[in-house]
Amino acid sequence: MPLMNTKAMFDQAYKHGYAIGAFNVNNMEIIQGIVEAATEEKAPLILQVSKGARNYANPVYLQKMVEAAEKVSGLPIALHLDHGDSFELCKSCIDGGFTSVMIDGSALSYEDNVALTKKVVEYAHDTTNHPYITVEGELGTLAGIEDEVSHAVGSYTRPEEVIDFVTKTGVDSLAIAIGTSHGAYKFKPEQCTRDENGVLVPPPLRFDILEAVSEKLPGFPIVLHGSSSVPQEFVQIINANGGKMPDAVGIPEAQLRKAATMSVCKINIDSDLRLGCTAGIRKHFAEHPEHFDPRQYLGDARANIKTVVKHKLTEVLGCAGKADEIIAKYNEMNK
Ligand code: G3H
Ligand code: 13P
Ligand code: ZN
Repeated sequence: MPLMNTKAMFDQAYKHGYAIGAFNVNNMEIIQGIVEAATEEKAPLILQVSKGARNYANPVYLQKMVEAAEKVSGLPIALHLDHGDSFELCKSCIDGGFTSVMIDGSALSYEDNVALTKKVVEYAHDTTNHPYITVEGELGTLAGIEDEVSHAVGSYTRPEEVIDFVTKTGVDSLAIAIGTSHGAYKFKPEQCTRDENGVLVPPPLRFDILEAVSEKLPGFPIVLHGSSSVPQEFVQIINANGGKMPDAVGIPEAQLRKAATMSVCKINIDSDLRLGCTAGIRKHFAEHPEHFDPRQYLGDARANIKTVVKHKLTEVLGCAGKADEIIAKYNEMNK
């Protein structure tokens, strides 16, 4: 089966109340950890590549490794551009064999966001020179700081804009801002309360906005970025082994699980993979200071990534065991 766009995935996810995990990939061990977990759980996958990942690893390496992942696993997999910031970048990914792209015009004015997103959609949906490529747009801005994504303050999506945006642009899915945030420091301590163990508890997601958006766009797939939960066990391992990540905090899993049963069909996770990776490597070096073979410490990083992803698939996203129904839907849509 070739890499697929997200249509069959979102169709099934919406209908059956689960979400597809969209995991950021930057190197071979990350891809392998994710795919080993999904293979054991028979789960669909969106493997997403940011502009920073393309610059780090070279787009051809990443693309070929994702193609290898599909070949080795036989799973339904989409190769998605995360946070595309220009028409040229989206076009380059589409021409290169990506099956889905995000055009992130959320930092632009509403009118410029519409115009840029529409231009990408027109190219992506024109099947003269390539298959139908699904396009994700974004309305509202997430707080948080990332290398390639920098918004000091977020602003929630305005439900009154979504029908106009989706109609004018023709996007296949929409990322919205309801209080999630990129990175491992999603909230300042003063924005949170603390639980009985002194762990930070962030403000709840704005489910009222999600519900208002879904009412305006029945049946339409919604995307959540910035959805890592920042597992405290990894933060503790990192801090106990020479790291320094005070007050790292993420989105509680129960809220993501709830969103996945609603109109949210794609949940983006990157930081939790980074934390698993870093915890594995720091612990490995602390326990084996004599090691210098990358297969030893990267093997531990890969094993942690697999553990993280298995947990997400089974306990948060609800997409474990759904690979076959998505392949059946894909075959029905493409016969
Ligand atoms: O949302 C951003 C992703 O975590 C990708 O981050 O731009 O550092 O690759 P990156
Ligand atoms: P996290 O930083 O919460 O993992 O979010 C990743 C993301 O949104 C990628 O687009
Ligand atoms: Zn994002």
